[in-house]
Amino acid sequence: TPRAFSGIQPSGGLTLGNYLGAMRRFVDWQDRGLKEGFETIFCMVDLHAITVWQDPDALRRQTRELAAGYIASGLDPAKSILFNQSQVPEHAQLAWIFNCVARVGWMQRMTQWKDKAGKNQQNASLGLFAYPALMAADILIYQTTHVPVGEDQKQHVELTRDIAAKFNHDYGVNFFPMTEPVIEGAATRVMSLRDGSKKMSKSDPSDMARINMTDDADTIANKIRKARTDADALPCEPKGLDDRPEARNLVNIFAALSDQSIDQVLADVGGKQFSEFKPMLSDLAVAKLSPISTEMARLMQVPDEIDAIIGKGAEKARAIAAPVLKDAYEIVGMIQS
Ligand code: TYM
Repeated sequence: TPRAFSGIQPSGGLTLGNYLGAMRRFVDWQDRGLKEGFETIFCMVDLHAITVWQDPDALRRQTRELAAGYIASGLDPAKSILFNQSQVPEHAQLAWIFNCVARVGWMQRMTQWKDKAGKNQQNASLGLFAYPALMAADILIYQTTHVPVGEDQKQHVELTRDIAAKFNHDYGVNFFPMTEPVIEGAATRVMSLRDGSKKMSKSDPSDMARINMTDDADTIANKIRKARTDADALPCEPKGLDDRPEARNLVNIFAALSDQSIDQVLADVGGKQFSEFKPMLSDLAVAKLSPISTEMARLMQVPDEIDAIIGKGAEKARAIAAPVLKDAYEIVGMIQS
């Protein structure tokens, strides 16, 4: 039977990229899991967040805000397991085993490591380097088959398969499954509003480059109005978006927000100028995001409720994770009496 797992770092504000590339897809998986009778598990990965410095109070607030974002986007604690990574210690325990399975060379090839460590790799935390082994543990501690993520996480999920395969091979077992990355929808890589060649990111120094899930209507409209574009009208067919990264990005965002294909969107808006398309896009973005940000703000007023929800989620997660860890320890040869 399938099982879906994914996680998001509570390392700053949530962007439209997180929403379209990840959270909305999580809700689809929740619905599918409910119909087909399998579990869906979503996590705030606080252990991953501290691979770069996090102020403790900010980390607490961002973890709750992410939980609020999950719930406001449609994840329901009665339907999915929602919890905080550090509350399920089996993640870190399995990660240690994977640190001993994975090779240094595998980690060195990770593009996120190269991007985040930058030129001064000697000074990056050891945790940042080992990050993908912890991510593999997040996934495999639930024997997950499907991981919905944005395009930028594909390499890490592929590495998870390599770690599972090496573990199975080294110990002569067929214990961990070969997990599939699931990268679906029109917005698997939402780009910066200022530069169509850069990913929309919570760490971009310019706030104008991204839409935050907590932005108000005026802010969203202003950012879209100022978004960089070329001077041509929108094309009527997808191939007309080739070599027009900014135009493509805005059309992808429109398609994802309206649950339409690119063809359907262009059938409607092809031939329009950006001066006409941008207000349509901001109305749509505000209509979709404002109920979510309102609900997030409400939940943030009741942090105890959030903590109770994730505490219960952690118990459910541990009930799955603990026996898997026990079996893994057994396989490795650790005395477990
Ligand atoms: P993170 O926290 O950077 O991003 C969370 C999710 O949002 C997606 N995403 C995007 N999708 C489309 N366009 C964008 N501009 C964009 N920006 C972010 C990401 O692809 C991701 O799906 N390592 C992970 C967190 C993690 C995880 C896991 C994920 C830890 N353990 C286990 C899955 C399974 C990360 O840093 O995502």
